[in-house]
Amino acid sequence: MIEFMLNQELIQWDATVSDLTLLQWLREERQLTGSKEGCAAGDCGACTVLVGQVEEEGQLKYRSINACICFMGSLAGHHVLTVESLQQEGNLHPVQQALVDHHGSQCGFCTPGFVMSLLGWWWNTEPQQLDSEVNFANHRHEVEQALSGNLCRCTGYQPILLAADSLAPRSRADDLLLVDKEKLIARLTAINNSNAQPTTSTWQGFYSPTNVADLSLAYTACPEARLVAGATDLSLELTQKLQPLPSLINLKQITELNQLQQQERHLVIGAAVSLLQMESFLRPYYPAFADILTWLGSRQIRHQGTMAGNIASASPIADTPPALLALDSQVVLQRGSQQRTIALSDFYLGYRQTVLRPAEFIHSILIPLPVARQQFFMAKVSKRKEDDISAVCLALSIVLQSGVVQQVAIGAGGLAATPARARTTESLLQGQTLDHNLINACGNTLAKDFQPISDFRASAAYRRQVTQNLLQDFLQKALSHDALTQEGAA
Ligand SMILES: Cc1cc2nc3c(=O)[nH]c(=O)nc-3n(C[C@H](O)[C@H](O)[C@H](O)COP(=O)(O)OP(=O)(O)OC[C@H]3O[C@@H](n4cnc5c(N)ncnc54)[C@H](O)[C@@H]3O)c2cc1C
Ligand code: FES
Ligand code: FES
Repeated sequence: MIEFMLNQELIQWDATVSDLTLLQWLREERQLTGSKEGCAAGDCGACTVLVGQVEEEGQLKYRSINACICFMGSLAGHHVLTVESLQQEGNLHPVQQALVDHHGSQCGFCTPGFVMSLLGWWWNTEPQQLDSEVNFANHRHEVEQALSGNLCRCTGYQPILLAADSLAPRSRADDLLLVDKEKLIARLTAINNSNAQPTTSTWQGFYSPTNVADLSLAYTACPEARLVAGATDLSLELTQKLQPLPSLINLKQITELNQLQQQERHLVIGAAVSLLQMESFLRPYYPAFADILTWLGSRQIRHQGTMAGNIASASPIADTPPALLALDSQVVLQRGSQQRTIALSDFYLGYRQTVLRPAEFIHSILIPLPVARQQFFMAKVSKRKEDDISAVCLALSIVLQSGVVQQVAIGAGGLAATPARARTTESLLQGQTLDHNLINACGNTLAKDFQPISDFRASAAYRRQVTQNLLQDFLQKALSHDALTQEGAA
């Protein structure tokens, strides 16, 4: 049995049904049909709800998520806020009123999701004065990011953006939903969830361990169970392929797997850290990597999804492995109480195949700290910028000293059965003086490194050409930057 709050109500829910989604439960069992099912795949945002959690500092923080790909068991101790709860004392909520005032309320399918995403943005943003171009541009970027997972297929976004402009300077003090926040924090903190640990291989249910030792015990007892972090990949096996997921072990409640820290030589990323947390954490070290993360899925997907899940899915078009490969990252794997650390480049065995053994899991990811003169570049090519999967993703890490390549690593996605390094091209560059001839020669070696396929995202020829263009552009920029650094030093 787990407990969570739904709007104003305390819910007790039997966690033996592992793979019921929040959207199914809301609509079919609670008849709360404001949250809509547009795609059941995390793509359209029609099912967006807010999920609040009391954080370590005692703050209640709300995140927008896709209810269609959220498993009920993951809600233990959380506050779920649906669109039905917004109207207070017969009045529209300020976010709803702003949409009405600016003609931003559209059809019944997309509007509830837009309302909830805007509410999440408004609550998580300090009141802003939009009195300079810079303030306005920053504000618009934030709103667009908050709405990146909400699709409307028929009208337009402008009235919705105008509604957000009108909300930006408004204080949240008069929001009736936030009046009893302290009481709500106390109620959530008092929830004491306990759930039965798997002890046999035939166990079925949803188990949320709170420490790595319990995770190891449970996974060893039931290696057939599936691990679930953000569920943004795994849930599609249920909602798209209609495959039941009877035994799930949740990683998100494990404190140790939520660690995010700088150590002497590495950044350590726990397996349960969300992609959104990664954006701000990585920015001071590798800004180009952080920039690409802002285009991974949508805000809702990044609130839930993790880097470890992105790696473990072993998708050839996952966005973080190319960067992690170029940065020579490692993964710490654990089975029972034993850990082993391997290079990410040794993690993939073939299409959707990894070296993970039964009952073994990714504990954390180690990203080396930047070294002197290291330059890092990354690009993702997709048909849409927001909420779209890569046709090609390329990352380059290079250290140049007076024009000579001291270190180079190239990671790529979308070009082979797994994310992969461009070893032949790296060998061509290593130790050489970087000039236009060498940069041009990379085109030929890339063709030896990768023989991409054609599919609905891009043709093989397009993939080849765009990869060559990206790499040559990165190398050119690295060379120019190195020349400027030398001039500056002279
Ligand atoms: C609408 C939408 C848009 C998306 N856009 C992008 C995109 O632009 N770029 C991109 O790269 N991906 C994208 N994805 C895919 C997905 O969001 C990412 O791959 C995400 O990082 C998966 O993380 P997760 O925590 O949700 O994984 P989960 O779904 O929880 O798990 C994925 C798989 O990894 C396993 N797993 C999870 N954690 C571990 C662990 N610690 N050890 C071992 N196995 C583990 C699970 O058992 C499962 O098999 C998108 C998905 C959706 C639904
Ligand atoms: S129904 Fe489309 S994102 Fe959930
Ligand atoms: S999908 Fe609702 S108005 Fe376009």
